[in-house]
Amino acid sequence: MNDKQLVALHAAKYVKNGMLVGLGTGSTANYFIDELARRQNDEGLKVTTVASSTVSAQRAQSLNLPIVALEHISQIDLYVDGADEITPEMTLLKGRGSDLVKEKLLAKAAKQFIAVADESKLVSRIGQNFVIPIEVIPFAWQLAQRSLADLGAQGELRPNAAKDGFWVTSHGSYVLDMRFDADFSAEVLNQIINNTPGVVEHGIFIGLTDAIFIAANGTVREQWA
Ligand code: 5RP
Repeated sequence: MNDKQLVALHAAKYVKNGMLVGLGTGSTANYFIDELARRQNDEGLKVTTVASSTVSAQRAQSLNLPIVALEHISQIDLYVDGADEITPEMTLLKGRGSDLVKEKLLAKAAKQFIAVADESKLVSRIGQNFVIPIEVIPFAWQLAQRSLADLGAQGELRPNAAKDGFWVTSHGSYVLDMRFDADFSAEVLNQIINNTPGVVEHGIFIGLTDAIFIAANGTVREQWA
């Protein structure tokens, strides 16, 4: 069993009968979804799920997990999802899979949000290893890119898989993948990006995580806020 699977299975132990559970997106989140389905089949676990992406919704559906649409919920019991970067303060960078709008809504709606990852995701500052994904309204992308460039950011629209056009998120946004020259804190980046007209959402998650579970060399460490 690899570390991503190990940590996902560990988080799945926190799921109890009757919970409304948010499903993340990505390879670690997939292990979590699979484990929920296994527990439903083998242990009679009774849960309802809500997905952060069409990919996760399809996976849950194919495994016969009961699923409700995001528009029908205002709060969930537990959200478990991966991350691209995790700082010691439990700030996350997410959205490499470009479904960060629903991911942030679920993180905020959750009574408990547990981020799960292997230790390769640990960083000392946001933006250390990855660009910052910023979802923008399609007609505003050049204006948003220019506003962010004025603040020292460089980056381009994310290309689609065939590299013959731009990536479009599940609800119709483009994604600017931006790198900031200045050594801004996550809080400052959050403020700068939120204040940029045309931005729908971005991948920095501050103050939303209740716990991070990190797997390294076959063991899981829990850190609670
Ligand atoms: C998707 C995400 C993912 O959680 C993040 O990219 C981690 O993915 P993986 O578990 O495959 O390493 O934020 O938007």
